[in-house]
Amino acid sequence: MKPPENNVSAWEAAYLRFETREEELRKFLRRLRKLGANGWPKDAEVVEIFCGRGTGLEALRHLGFCRLEGVDLSPALLANYTGPARCVVADCRQLPFPDTSRDLVIVQGGLHHLPKLPDDLEQVVGEVWRVLRPGGRFMVVEPWRTPFLQFVHWVGSFRAARQAWDKLDALETMTELEWDTYEQWLRQPDLVRRCLERHFTVERCHIGWGKLMWLGRKPE
Ligand SMILES: C[S@@+](CC[C@H](N)C(=O)[O-])C[C@H]1O[C@@H](n2cnc3c(N)ncnc32)[C@H](O)[C@@H]1O
Repeated sequence: MKPPENNVSAWEAAYLRFETREEELRKFLRRLRKLGANGWPKDAEVVEIFCGRGTGLEALRHLGFCRLEGVDLSPALLANYTGPARCVVADCRQLPFPDTSRDLVIVQGGLHHLPKLPDDLEQVVGEVWRVLRPGGRFMVVEPWRTPFLQFVHWVGSFRAARQAWDKLDALETMTELEWDTYEQWLRQPDLVRRCLERHFTVERCHIGWGKLMWLGRKPE
């Protein structure tokens, strides 16, 4: 097991050992391409919320985006990011940006950490809607209850499997430590989609392999 990169909590330490930066980067590039990022204007002003250690921002830079900002609540995770994006420590329930000032907001694996559903989700989605320009896009990638996800957690319920595979152990450790919000999120898929769809017009939506991959657009 690798030591944590910084002075981080138990959850942050598990997150940091779940994937290497290279694995994470490949994953983010795949998701961005699947949701159409190659066709988005490269001078778009992009904010990644719940950006963690910032590998999503690195993926955006690889694809040619250069006006990048990140927001996360954890100074310890943000301290691992060394790229050119402007990163801010803040609570995504109150985004530190003016109204209609950004073109694209991205969240990957952040909304399922919100403590109160639907209130916190309404708040974040309302904030994203507020800071986006008309026509701006909101990209969401979050865990979703699918047979694959249930299978992974079933395998992870065996101690021997966790001992044999560090990545699985890191995933199960994160899941245990965030259990209340994670379980609350997975059990209310209709509420989540209704909240997103009330604010945004759906452009793309893929569900599979334990993930929701969703792209919405703020009406012009
Ligand atoms: C699962 S990590 C995802 C990080 C990154 N998006 C990724 O996919 O690797 C969730 C992140 O959400 C952050 N977070 C949790 N609650 C938050 C909040 N209310 N506002 C901002 N960030 C928050 C945590 O610090 C953590 O970095």
